[in-house]
Amino acid sequence: MTSKDVMFNGLRVGEAQRACVSPLKDAGIDEPVLEARLLVGFVLGGGPERVLMDRDEMLSDTQASKLSVVLAQRSGRMPMAQILGVREFWSLPFKVTSATLSPRPDSETIVEAALNHVSIAPATVLDLGTGTGCLVLALLSEWKNARGTAVDVSAETLSVATENAKVLDLSARVKWLQNDWTIEGWMESLGGPFDVVVSNPPYIPSADIAGLDADVRAYEPLGALDGGVSGLDAYRILCAALPRLLTNGGLAVFEVGIGQGDDVTTLMEQAGLDVIEQRQDLGGIVRAIVGRNTPH
Ligand SMILES: C[S@@+](CC[C@H](N)C(=O)[O-])C[C@H]1O[C@@H](n2cnc3c(N)ncnc32)[C@H](O)[C@@H]1O
Repeated sequence: MTSKDVMFNGLRVGEAQRACVSPLKDAGIDEPVLEARLLVGFVLGGGPERVLMDRDEMLSDTQASKLSVVLAQRSGRMPMAQILGVREFWSLPFKVTSATLSPRPDSETIVEAALNHVSIAPATVLDLGTGTGCLVLALLSEWKNARGTAVDVSAETLSVATENAKVLDLSARVKWLQNDWTIEGWMESLGGPFDVVVSNPPYIPSADIAGLDADVRAYEPLGALDGGVSGLDAYRILCAALPRLLTNGGLAVFEVGIGQGDDVTTLMEQAGLDVIEQRQDLGGIVRAIVGRNTPH
């Protein structure tokens, strides 16, 4: 059965959830039962907990037609975060749209590494390629007196990040800058130097984009993914900039893709930083390269 065949009018909440499972399974969704509950919870308006509580209630006609729409979207592999419009990161809610990369749990490794390697809470943080703002806002939520500067090339992305800062009550401590690090002189408007620089730049080699899961390839912004032929284009620019961007003793934490840890370590070392950790994510994959700008 395809998602287009499913009609939800006249169904109870529990029946509607069960009816979503097989189209999701047929679309290749790994956890169809869980995702069916998320979709039904979304149309009910109270999240997945409402599905259990209201399982014997009838769906309204509006809820039934909304459920048909979101089921078709998810069966077409639209990412769940874009359907729900929100994704949790560092236990904080982040609005996401088709213009933003949805924050990934793996990227929490960057936040953990930054928190781990500073002994005194820093005063200034720079986030290069901020997307939803998840890295800089998670760090500002931990370092209560720090101020953030966050850069992205995409104006649409920055407007989502701005909304996220408002919801988290962090707007007063963060400055958003539309800036393109491939353009000469890009560092001039940033200010600084900064105590901490974080980045999760685009790092997928261009030739690998076609082989990504449909959820990512068709729905996430290409500008957030494509790292050039080797996947390392952004790292070459950003690592070389670190000595100018960091205070003496300042810390850089960069996310890397699978197998890129040693290349990015080399790029940071060539820029004159001491690489102090290659940090693994929960899956045991090197995910963050941590460098210190130690005066020599
Ligand atoms: C992989 S996403 C990371 C987003 C967010 N920091 C996160 O961790 O979820 C990379 C971000 O870098 C931005 N970006 C790509 N090229 C850029 C450039 N040349 N200058 C500035 N930002 C760029 C993209 O728009 C995107 O938001």
